[in-house]
Amino acid sequence: SYDIEDGMEYALDRFVREAHHAIAATGLVAGHLIELVTPKPNIPADLAFPTFRAAKEAGVTPPHLAQRIAEKAHAPHGSLIGSIVATGPFVNFSLDAARLAAAVLDEVERLGARYGSDDQGAGKTIVIDYSSPNVAKTMHVGHIRSTIIGQSLYHIFDFLGYRVIGDNHLGDWGKQFGMNIAAIVRWGKPEGDDEDAIAALDKLYARYSALVKEDVALREEAAEWAKRLERNDPEALAKRAWIAELQARAAQPNHDDEARAWSLKLEQGDPLARELWQWMVDLTLKANQRNYDRLGVRFDYTLGESFYAPMLDGLIQEAIDKGVAYRDEDGAVVVDELAPGLPTFLLRRSDSGTLYHTRDLACIVYREREFRPAKIIYVVDSRQELHFRQLFALARAMGYAQETELIHVKFGTIFDQQGRPLSTRAGNMVYLADLLDEAHARARAVVDQASPELPEVEKEAIAEAVGVGAVVYNDLYQDPRRDIRLDWERMLAIEGNSAPYIQYMHARCCSILRKAADEGVDAEQGDAALLTHPAETAVIKQLAKLPGAVREAGERYAPFVIAEWCYETARALSAFYRDCSVLKAETPALRTARLRLVAATAQALRNGLALLGIKAPERM
Ligand code: ARG
Repeated sequence: SYDIEDGMEYALDRFVREAHHAIAATGLVAGHLIELVTPKPNIPADLAFPTFRAAKEAGVTPPHLAQRIAEKAHAPHGSLIGSIVATGPFVNFSLDAARLAAAVLDEVERLGARYGSDDQGAGKTIVIDYSSPNVAKTMHVGHIRSTIIGQSLYHIFDFLGYRVIGDNHLGDWGKQFGMNIAAIVRWGKPEGDDEDAIAALDKLYARYSALVKEDVALREEAAEWAKRLERNDPEALAKRAWIAELQARAAQPNHDDEARAWSLKLEQGDPLARELWQWMVDLTLKANQRNYDRLGVRFDYTLGESFYAPMLDGLIQEAIDKGVAYRDEDGAVVVDELAPGLPTFLLRRSDSGTLYHTRDLACIVYREREFRPAKIIYVVDSRQELHFRQLFALARAMGYAQETELIHVKFGTIFDQQGRPLSTRAGNMVYLADLLDEAHARARAVVDQASPELPEVEKEAIAEAVGVGAVVYNDLYQDPRRDIRLDWERMLAIEGNSAPYIQYMHARCCSILRKAADEGVDAEQGDAALLTHPAETAVIKQLAKLPGAVREAGERYAPFVIAEWCYETARALSAFYRDCSVLKAETPALRTARLRLVAATAQALRNGLALLGIKAPERM
């Protein structure tokens, strides 16, 4: 249903307001009972007032009330309402096509790249935590989702008038760095440029963590046998000598101890640990930056987990003082069930190391103090849902984020073409840089075929825009909570719901406008009121919907609402090209009017694509 929106008033907002007003002015319905809805697709109207509630209140039948309202209501002079008719229990409002065209084209031309923007966020801040990969790991397709969805949300909230702060919460602290450092100390620092060194680090880590697993298993086995001995288990008694030997081995300092020791040294500022850590951080940032540049992704801050290290001791103490956490007999700091069904978690391990939760708590405290945000949005894998539920509950229990909305925007997993999960171990892992290269190469082949005459530089630029655009769109066009599949044919299709199709429709607009300019046709003076062909009206209605789509995308944290709008607009445009000639229009006046429509549609499509973080080349 439609509310009269705060913020900027676009054509459809005005239409809703006018319809509301027309009903109220009949004096037949109290204001609070006027609720306007979108009619069913088979109803030839643009807005409907279902009279059920109002009729009940008035003690008449709904069709009767609808009839009386339709008779008495009238559209004010110059309004966007074309007709008001009663259909059964509904009062249906239709737009006046000519006046809508004039209003919408005027808005698009006046606002240009800002068309669809709003001021609802004025004076409010939103922090978006996105991308946030781990240091010393190659970015793979799993990271792409957070990066792309987060960047699109950034554009959307910026467009809605918020001050947006993008923060890349780099995973650069914690026990895994103990393992990385221990591995480097043991086997040497990998050589090679950033990507190669990271890939090598990835392998070292895997090798080291396999050894840690063995060590841990050994200790568990030793403990198990010790218990069985205590119970005078006959098998254990028979193996006494062997068990003693097992226990001696398990008691040796092992890889796990070594990694823990390095992780503590790192926390305490040991120079060698710090140096190796910094080297890994710099390497990762450099390699990731290349991906970000290609994706058009940028952050206002890259405050990794390590940034919060100085706050941790104080916060852990504060959690204890506030009675939210306690220190157990091993020295670990524990947060017990904060709410029914919310499992216990640690803020400090018994070896004194801190955890992901601890650093995320500090991060909330810092963001709140520093930015005073209305919302903090975390764009993170759905598998971390429990982590965020625990974190948000903890922050609130400690008295933080009382006025700040904390939102976890979840997304599902990416699968390969056959629908199998991607994993390094299964050998079908896809790294982000390779994915973008592959998309570029495939798009390049398409461009070579479609536009062989274009200069080489331009072909390269188009291939990059189309290839990267396809990857980005593939991530954004569906509900992010659903798992997605990497399907090249689909992603790069020029037909159907894909970025190349939308980019292509945009480029087609540009091509027509170029031809018109070559022929010296003035596209600016056309009379929009001439645009009343159903195919023209369909495009104009689509353009009119962009502002609403942007608001909805913000309300639902859902870039796919914008993607859907882009696709529907491209489809309406394609039907328009099929049914109406532009350059060969029936009259010169109609030609200029249609050129205005083409220019406005190109502008609106550019705005929509920009919100998704997708480029719109002028030629394809
Ligand atoms: N580094 C984490 C990972 O790769 C994601 C961090 C998300 N942000 C946060 N504030 N916890 O899984």
